[in-house]
Amino acid sequence: MFRSLFSRLMVTYFVIMLITLITLSLFLSSALQRYVIRTTEEELIREAKELNRHYELYDRGWVSREYMELISDGITSYENTSIWVVRVVGDIGLLQFQYNPRGTTDREMEVTPFSKEEIINVLSGNIIKNIGKFGDRFSAPVLTVGIPLKISGKIRGAIFFHTPIEELDLILYDIYADIWKATLFSAALAAVLLYWMSRRISKPLSQMSEVSREIASGNYKRRVKVSSKDETGQLAISFNAMADSLEKLEDMRRTFVANVSHELRSPLTSMRGYIQGVLDKTFDPEEQEKYLTIALEETQRLNKLINELLDLSQIESGQFPLNIISFDINEQLRRLIIAQEERINAKEIDVVIEFESNKCMVKADPDRIKQVIINLLDNAIKFNRQQGKIIIKTWKKRGKVYVKIQDQGIGMPKDEIANIWDRFYQVEKSRTGQERGTGLGLSIVKKIIEEHHENIWVNSSPGEGSAFIFSLEASS
Ligand SMILES: Nc1ncnc2c1ncn2[C@@H]1O[C@H](COP(=O)(O)OP(=O)(O)O)[C@@H](O)[C@H]1O
Ligand SMILES: [Mg+2]
Repeated sequence: MFRSLFSRLMVTYFVIMLITLITLSLFLSSALQRYVIRTTEEELIREAKELNRHYELYDRGWVSREYMELISDGITSYENTSIWVVRVVGDIGLLQFQYNPRGTTDREMEVTPFSKEEIINVLSGNIIKNIGKFGDRFSAPVLTVGIPLKISGKIRGAIFFHTPIEELDLILYDIYADIWKATLFSAALAAVLLYWMSRRISKPLSQMSEVSREIASGNYKRRVKVSSKDETGQLAISFNAMADSLEKLEDMRRTFVANVSHELRSPLTSMRGYIQGVLDKTFDPEEQEKYLTIALEETQRLNKLINELLDLSQIESGQFPLNIISFDINEQLRRLIIAQEERINAKEIDVVIEFESNKCMVKADPDRIKQVIINLLDNAIKFNRQQGKIIIKTWKKRGKVYVKIQDQGIGMPKDEIANIWDRFYQVEKSRTGQERGTGLGLSIVKKIIEEHHENIWVNSSPGEGSAFIFSLEASS
């Protein structure tokens, strides 16, 4: 039953609050009771002393018994208070005057005489206060105060005032009722607040677990509603951010798989067509060679595609950390240009080298940087025009080395530039033969540069050519 956070919070808070309220009410009630008894005692003592003065007159026979009764009625401020005046005669105390509350005056109580021991305390000049049945003379408990009866300054007996406890309880009950009403009211109010607060705390949590279950089962669209700025709100924000990146990752994975399948399928389909044609002898011998050459080219492209995919997954797996060493980037560029000599000559491209100095040392992973240069150089040749120029430049500035590879080829429209780093993205997909790319080269380049915590920029305009510039850490 108390499995959920919500019910646990509710029950815990509620029990704590109830205990607090009940303890408080009990303390308050008992303090009030003591207070009421003390004030009553004080008032009764004051009244008893006043009665003493009138009784002196009565004792001398100056006033009548009716007068005494009238006075008693006036003096007593608590309902149902009885008054006894006891005089010591010989060894016992005898009741000399008795006043019973209105309505009971005619019915005088039978009061057993008092032994001296019973009233000795008063006789020796003390005031007594007592709760009880006063030696079984009352049927229900009464609050009794007793003071010495003084006549002409001498102690002659005792005056007792009795107020039934019931009367005091009646006063207290009213107050108790108020206290319990207030307690109940605050408990109800607190319960509403507790409900609201517990809901607020537990709702985002249960929502999060619900949403995470949905994400686990493949629905990446759901998000948690953020309704507060506290820790739970923070958690909800982080949770949503996590869901966002999961969704993005899943999207990427999906498009990647779709793209790879597509890229693999189309060359396979065309190869199958050509080889089938050769086998079926649909082509004459010259054509056969032409189509087999195309099929061979397709296998080469597939090979390249698979190598690039492997490179990409290797870089992304993070399992092969960079092997950073110091090396001469100029030397590396020279070698890689020479390696492409054949293609450069075929297109009659003029390679212009503008190195700031003969050597230019950088701190980087030479194998990875080689991949970067090969890809950029390949593009610069591939997208260049016949008899175009490729300008290769390196320079040092504030602890960085910059490498620029510029061509005079077809260039790119401004709004395409942001996309060229995406996997499989090709501005023009319709190239054929050797020129047909995979769209993976620049995404590998970007990944490698990012791994080095460096930057790569591109300047390009259609028909004029493109320039790729990347930075590396200089090594002295
Ligand atoms: N030097 C360049 N000149 C013009 N366009 C380029 C150049 N380099 C890259 N691009 C464009 O960016 C796209 C992505 O490049 P890349 O990732 O190397 O793929 P690929 O070379 O396999 O086509 C290319 O298809 C091309 O449209
Ligand atoms: Mg390329």
